[in-house]
Amino acid sequence: MVMMVGQLTAIAEAAPCEWKAPSPKAESRLHQLAPYIGKLKPVIAHHLLQRYTAPNDVVLDCFSGSGTIPLEALLLGRRVLAYDTNPYAVTLTRAKLEAPASLEMASEQLVQRIASAEERPRYEDEQIPDWVRKFFHPETLQSALRFADECIEKDDQFLLGCLLSILHHQRPGFLSYPSSHLVPYLRDRKFPRDEYPEMYEERALAPRLAAKLRRTYKDTHSKNRSSVLGVGHTNVSDLELDCSVDAIITSPPYMNALDYVRDNRLRMWFLDRRTADYSPEPTEKKDQSDAITDAFARNALKFLRPGGYCVLVVGETVFRKRVTTHPAERMLSKLTSVCPALQVEQIIQDEIPDVRRSRRSGAATKRELILVLRKDGGPISM
Ligand SMILES: C[S@@+](CC[C@H](N)C(=O)[O-])C[C@H]1O[C@@H](n2cnc3c(N)ncnc32)[C@H](O)[C@@H]1O
Repeated sequence: MVMMVGQLTAIAEAAPCEWKAPSPKAESRLHQLAPYIGKLKPVIAHHLLQRYTAPNDVVLDCFSGSGTIPLEALLLGRRVLAYDTNPYAVTLTRAKLEAPASLEMASEQLVQRIASAEERPRYEDEQIPDWVRKFFHPETLQSALRFADECIEKDDQFLLGCLLSILHHQRPGFLSYPSSHLVPYLRDRKFPRDEYPEMYEERALAPRLAAKLRRTYKDTHSKNRSSVLGVGHTNVSDLELDCSVDAIITSPPYMNALDYVRDNRLRMWFLDRRTADYSPEPTEKKDQSDAITDAFARNALKFLRPGGYCVLVVGETVFRKRVTTHPAERMLSKLTSVCPALQVEQIIQDEIPDVRRSRRSGAATKRELILVLRKDGGPISM
């Protein structure tokens, strides 16, 4: 199919209605491990993987975020390569791919980590910045920090991910003073300390993590960890693989709309104590989409085998209700100029419901276009 840039939204097909269905009962609970801005709906990852890959295929997601595509790929019996630059994203992706096989195993691991964390030295107040301290009762913060250190030292990304998932919210199962869940803002005006004193008491870590494990293991996660061929912290500009891949399925960063550092700052501080308080200023003012697309075209596409699919879920950027050209247009023109062997197979359009957006006004993404491209040359793998 020959495609002129500028025609994408006009010729896009509506997403199949099964993508809009509420999460199917069969969906793994691991997908709900923790919030992440710009997270893809698992049902979409499921359908894209079913349609454009075959069992045992090697699937690359070089912008893995919270690991939706790699986890679903693993559950469908594909082999996976998953990378991201954001440390919180890498922890979540690894947590999902490396989760222990059963609740019993996870619970045993938890008991050990809690016991070892309690042996660790306490933090001095001056080691913790004020903006972090204001979210927690001091004793809760001590336990959470020492538990994080223990998991980091043992490279236990699963329990680390569980800790980050219950770090902040206003519900009793969480660790912070009342605050929002996705992006960390205190909700002390809505829940003043004198009216809601119980929300400002110490929160015991062990029972909350145990409850988190029970919620996570309500279903079974049958997946083969040896099918994870590579996962970690890699900028797409430095991507190097030692094998070819059968498919690339990924959602590139919504550079102007979502700010992965600022919005994840509290969880990221637990992973890297040099993370600063980025509120209220956005951290990534410069739109780097073109540079990232270029790096993706040069470094990722060369590993795609002839005949393999490259499926990109691209969010539309909206600034104060003004819709700019859909980034998929620029992306497609750049990708096909670097890799002329790419052919457009299909364009799918999907509306993003309000609940999935981190901000409902101002800069946000409202519509996703899914570019389905195929590299010329080999047999079709479906
Ligand atoms: C739209 S999100 C991916 C969301 C993911 N599909 C999910 O379901 O959670 C894009 C991701 O790209 C990552 N990213 C941004 N710049 C990157 C780069 N240069 N190399 C690799 N990853 C990058 C961000 O940290 C973010 O996690």
